[in-house]
Amino acid sequence: MTYASRLDLDTALRAAVLPILQSRLSDTLDLQAQVKQAHWNLRGPAFIALHDLFDRIAADIALAADDTAERIVALGGYADGRPFRTARDTSLPGWPERVQAQGAVLDALAASISAHGRGLRDAIDSTTQIGDAGTADLFTGQSRQTDKQLWLVEAHLSGMKAE
Ligand SMILES: [Fe+2]
Repeated sequence: MTYASRLDLDTALRAAVLPILQSRLSDTLDLQAQVKQAHWNLRGPAFIALHDLFDRIAADIALAADDTAERIVALGGYADGRPFRTARDTSLPGWPERVQAQGAVLDALAASISAHGRGLRDAIDSTTQIGDAGTADLFTGQSRQTDKQLWLVEAHLSGMKAE
């Protein structure tokens, strides 16, 4: 169901892209909440560096969520960022209960950022196939940003083996 618009992208294309955008929105909002959990509850010797890093990452993710939601509406859809919808639809690993130690927080965050990155890459492929270069470009920028966030988080983890 799309709103009437003078947008020249045809209705069938928009109907195919909108659920992909909504899925990415749910994951992005979940990730934003997870990064804030990390920002608030973290404990460890690198507290202040990670506390500040996580807040910068959360702010970037909030902007990405806003872009995704607004793309949904620009395509004539309805952006659903309600917490219940996010909780129901997210494909990210669940944030562990009461995790605080910095190593465990970094591991959990890296797993979620990685899952989000995989979702974005899949979404780039599917929206490219559908023929929506604008949405594919949006996801491409977010994918690059997510890869960088994963690096910033994983750089604090020692002992990861190269493959
Ligand atoms: Fe804060």
